[in-house]
Formats: sequence, structure tokens, C-alpha cells
Amino acid sequence: MKPALETVSTEQRETPKPANRDKPFLTDVIKLREKARQDLAKGAITPAYKGDPEQTINILQSVLATEIVCVLRYTMNAIAAAGIASESIKEEFSTHANEEQVHVQLVGERINQLGGKPDFNPATLTSRAASQYVDTETLVDMIKENLVAERIACEHYRELIEFFRDKDPTTRRMLEGILEKEEEHANDMHDLLVAHQGKPELPH
Ligand SMILES: [Fe+2]
Ligand SMILES: [Fe+2]
Repeated sequence: MKPALETVSTEQRETPKPANRDKPFLTDVIKLREKARQDLAKGAITPAYKGDPEQTINILQSVLATEIVCVLRYTMNAIAAAGIASESIKEEFSTHANEEQVHVQLVGERINQLGGKPDFNPATLTSRAASQYVDTETLVDMIKENLVAERIACEHYRELIEFFRDKDPTTRRMLEGILEKEEEHANDMHDLLVAHQGKPELPH
């Protein structure tokens, strides 16, 4: 035998209301929906975006170029170091090249999300990059140049993280993740330099 259906009044069937139903969102939900429907071509850029998308894209183009130069430098080092150094150093350079490639991808995708086109033009690459591509012969020089490049990237990204703080938290968080990896890279290069050259003297 089926159980008897419970008698539920219309009042009881209604979805429970939130405690603070007058202001569940900072912006009224109807307005929020209307705003989202405007300017669909702007993709992820909504009216509450506090940054200047064009400026953000330009800054990220320079970050992209910096990362591409890092991929090229570590890839060249991983190949050139093979003959003059141990396999472990070659591996280290190669790992860094792969990690820089991940950064290239992340930054390129963020430029795309903001409505820009990632600039991969090799002709203007070095003028847009913060780090330099320096041709090196010896292993110690390779390590030194990588350490210099990583320190430039760390300094550059620290400034950018401050700049984007509340203007564009997504870009800021991406840069924070990249900075964490660049600090690791700088530390790896420092340790390699000490291992191959001895501890550099601290400035007086
Ligand atoms: Fe990087
Ligand atoms: Fe790096």
C-alpha cells in the first residue's frame, strides 16, 4: 500500500529565503545579468574590471617576450652544456626551459582572455623582453647569465604584482605563481654557480 501523501501548503513549498534577502549581492542580480549581456565581444572583461585592458595587454606582451627569451636561452644552454658538463646540469637547464615554456603559455592565454593577440614576432622579441639573450661559451658564464636573467625577471614581476594588486587580481595571481618559479630558478643557478666557482664574495 502506498503511503499517504503529505499535505503541504503552498507557503511550505516555497524555497527558503536567504536571511539577508534584500542584499544578497553587492550589485542587484538583475543589473548584474544585464551588464553581463552587454559587450559580449569583450569576453572576460566586464564593467567591474578595474584595470586598463590595453595597458595590461601591453605589459603582458613584454612578460611574454621575456619568457620566450628564457625558453630560448635555457634550450640553447641545455644543448651547448651537453659536451662540457655533466648530464645533471644539462637536465637542470632543460627542466628550466620547459618551465619557462609553461609561463609562455600562461601569459599568452591571459593576453588572449583580455582580448589581445600574443605577440610571438621573432623580429621584435629582444626589444620587448626585460631579459637579454647573451651568447655564452663557458658553463660558468651560462650559469651567470641565467642568474642575471632570473634576477631581472624576479624584480620585474615583483613590481608588476604590486601594480596589478587590486586592478586585476587574476593577472596578479598568475604573476605570483610565475615569480615563485623564477625565484626557484634563481636559487638553482646560484647553487650551480657556487658549486662551479665557489662562493661569490658578498658586497661590503
Ligand atoms: Fe619564466
Ligand atoms: Fe626562470
